[in-house]
Amino acid sequence: MPTFASSNNQKLALVMVGLPARGKSYIARKLARYLRWRGIETRVCNVGMYRRELVGAQVSHDFFDPNNPEGLADRMRVARLALDDMLRWLELGGQIGILDATNSTRERRAWITKACAERGAKVVFIETICNDHAVIDRNVRETKLHSPDYVGVEPDAAVRDFLARIAHYERAYQTVEDDEGMYVKVIDEGKKVIVHEIDGDVLSRVVFFLMNLRTKRRPLWLVRHGESIFNVEDRIGGDSELSPRGHAFARSLAAFMQTRRNDEPISVWTSQLKRTIQTAQNLREQPVSHRALDEIDAGICDGLTYSEVRRRYPDEFAARSKDKLNYRYPRGESYGDVIQRLDPVIIEIERHERPILIIGHQGILRALYAYLMDTPPRECPHLPMPLHTVLELTPNAYGCTERRFPLAC
Ligand code: SIN
Repeated sequence: MPTFASSNNQKLALVMVGLPARGKSYIARKLARYLRWRGIETRVCNVGMYRRELVGAQVSHDFFDPNNPEGLADRMRVARLALDDMLRWLELGGQIGILDATNSTRERRAWITKACAERGAKVVFIETICNDHAVIDRNVRETKLHSPDYVGVEPDAAVRDFLARIAHYERAYQTVEDDEGMYVKVIDEGKKVIVHEIDGDVLSRVVFFLMNLRTKRRPLWLVRHGESIFNVEDRIGGDSELSPRGHAFARSLAAFMQTRRNDEPISVWTSQLKRTIQTAQNLREQPVSHRALDEIDAGICDGLTYSEVRRRYPDEFAARSKDKLNYRYPRGESYGDVIQRLDPVIIEIERHERPILIIGHQGILRALYAYLMDTPPRECPHLPMPLHTVLELTPNAYGCTERRFPLAC
């Protein structure tokens, strides 16, 4: 599967920096999901998780006081373990490690840079800065109160403790400076992004992704077009019209969306093929058609049935069955090619503020779903994507909750 061109297979350590509740874990996880989807072996090591395992989840804010020597020693110990695990994983074949922690002092970052350099990894700091108290408050309430650190703690007491924890970090906090090397600073949820010494394809994509990442939570619906004439004939590709059953589904979909949209305006995206545009025709919104959402190009097999493919091109049929992810139809596309062409759609999804309904095709929706649900690329070509079923993906703290609605037609 094609990944980003990486000049020299350089191992990268993306080191998060920032006060608590500034969205570091959100960014780290989204970035990891995106890089994995693009075929790059990426892993997040979250220092908080190591601390919970080794010291315990329910430590009071005093543990984070920079003047508490025992707390300091324990925090150093868990940071060392997380960093060591990340570096070992990179040595064993991983490509990008993300160290998710506050890393809030120059001293801590210099130690990380040295350890990474000794083991062949290049460090890039990703600092998240947010001074908007409403956003910090929302982050505390939406994510921290549900963390294992505050299980069974009354919400107001948990907020008080977490704010005291933030205050400890604030006392010692030092922003990243130019002499520390490569960095990206994401300020106020991407309103401003500062980049220093970033180069190369992978890191440029990372910066572009971060520039477009928003935190607003809104649902996203994925649905295949209604049954088409080619579906009825079991033919691949083409640009056929909907069957009568497909038209009935288009009506059901419009009625269903009335019940899901909460009177909010939604965006409707289709491919440029007739069957998706016709599926959108009863909706209240005017759809926007994207070429990037067109079905995987079946090349010389376009318009054939699967049994015709097997008869006319037995070698192609066998090669595809063997490795569906990497197989490319002659003069057509592979799943890897589709993932590459969907990249701008993913960026648009991340920066879009409205709920989105995507009416697409089986292969395309599999690739989008793999991104949204962080499914390993090898599973992508086999993900079940039935006709006449709406997938509703609602973002939660760090991922999405899925519901499937089969519609009558
Ligand atoms: C934690 O222990 O929850 C986080 C430690 C850190 O990132 O400073």
